[in-house]
Amino acid sequence: MTDCDYRHLAIQALENSYSPYSHFRVGACLVCEDGTPFTGANFENASYGATICAERCAVSNAIAHGRRRFTKVFIACDSGYAWPCGICRQVLNEFKSGEFTVYTGDPENEWKALPLSALLPESFGPESLDMRAD
Ligand code: THU
Repeated sequence: MTDCDYRHLAIQALENSYSPYSHFRVGACLVCEDGTPFTGANFENASYGATICAERCAVSNAIAHGRRRFTKVFIACDSGYAWPCGICRQVLNEFKSGEFTVYTGDPENEWKALPLSALLPESFGPESLDMRAD
């Protein structure tokens, strides 16, 4: 699969967003080391704090399928660029494989990319505890 395919999967995933409170639809396509994609969409809750972002939905989806090593994520949003929130940066950091890249864009405009290390510098992760997430 190409990055173009992954972008389209993320855009498709945002159609499944459950966001009646914010109306901010987000879709994510998380890519495994072997190129297998897992998608996710944000789903909100009447108790707002119970909301799950698209990125963590995709991570949950992948974990449930026995996958734990990811190289990149594509985040699609139809309300502009959606860089991952702090909690999602931390969760992605746990399962990154090497130089993990975050892409964000929307169905209409160009996509942007940044390494996770730029979005979460000096991170606290499995290495900090002498652990690997495998
Ligand atoms: N949201 C995501 O799904 N991913 C992001 O990267 C940013 C925020 C969701 C959470 C909530 O449903 C809505 O966007 C507004 O914060």
